Amino acid sequence: MSTLTMDKKLASRRADSQPSIEVRNRSFPIGPAIPRDWHGGRRSVSRFFDNLSVFFPEGERFFMRSLQAFRHVVADDPAMRRAIRDFCAQEGIHGREHERYNASVRDAGYPVEAMEARVTRLLAFVQRVLPKRAQLGATAALEHFTALMGHVILERPEIFADAHPTMRELWLWHAAEENEHKAVAYDVYLAAGGNYPERAVIMALASIIFWAKVIEHQARLMRVDGDLFSPRAHAELLRFLWLEPGGMGKMWRLWLEWFRPSFHPNDIDSGPLLEAWRAAQEVS
Ligand SMILES: [Fe+2]
Ligand SMILES: [Fe+2]
Repeated sequence: MSTLTMDKKLASRRADSQPSIEVRNRSFPIGPAIPRDWHGGRRSVSRFFDNLSVFFPEGERFFMRSLQAFRHVVADDPAMRRAIRDFCAQEGIHGREHERYNASVRDAGYPVEAMEARVTRLLAFVQRVLPKRAQLGATAALEHFTALMGHVILERPEIFADAHPTMRELWLWHAAEENEHKAVAYDVYLAAGGNYPERAVIMALASIIFWAKVIEHQARLMRVDGDLFSPRAHAELLRFLWLEPGGMGKMWRLWLEWFRPSFHPNDIDSGPLLEAWRAAQEVS
C-alpha cells in the first residue's frame, strides 16, 4: 500500500477511537507558598519540570495558530471543528496556568524571561520559513512528545509521589488533557494533505531542535542553582529520568512509533489511564 493511500485510510479512521476532550477551566495557586524545590526537595528534578514549563505558553500558542490556519480543511466535519475548538480551549488554559507557574520561577531568580524570549524568536523563525502545513506537522510532532510525556506521567504515579500537591495536580491535569487531544493536530495535518515522508522528516528535525533547547534550558536553570558542574546534581536527574522512577526509556520507545507509516496517535491506548485520572478527580 502506498503511504498516500495509507494516510487517507488513517484520516478516515480517526473518529473510531477518539478520546473525548473536556475543557476544564482549572486554576492552580502557584506562588511563593510553594517551595522552590517542590519536587520532594530534589533541585535538579524540580528544575527539569520548570524547564518544560517555560516552553508551554508560547509553544501552545504556536500550536493553536498552526491548527487554526487549517480550520477550512475540516469545514464540513463538525466533529473535527469541535475538536479544534476544544484543543484550542485546553491549550489556552494550559498556557494561562503555565504563565503563572513561569512567573513564580522568574520571581525566584531564574532567567525565565530570556528563555521565553528565545523560544518566541525560534517559533517566529519557524513561522517565517516553514510552509503552513509543515508548521502543522511540527505541531503534530511536538504533540506526540507532550502526549507521550503525559502518558508516562499518568502511568507512573511515583513520578510525582512526593512532589508538592499543587504541582502534582497541575502536571497530572496537563498530562491527561494532552492525551485527550493528542490526535487533533495529527488528524488535521492528514486532512490538510500531510504525508508520511514529510512528517518523518519534520519529526526528526523537531526532536533535535526541541531536545537541544531542553538541554540548554536545563543548563541555564541549573547554573543559577550552582549545579551546572555538579556531578551529583546531574546524576540525581539522570537517575530520576531513566531509572527511578524512570520513564524516558519508555517515552523514546513510544516516540519511535511515529515512524511507522500506519501510525496514528490513538494506536497508543491512553484510555484506561485517562479513566483512572478522571475517577481520581471525582474522589478528591
Ligand atoms: Fe497543553
Ligand atoms: Fe497539546
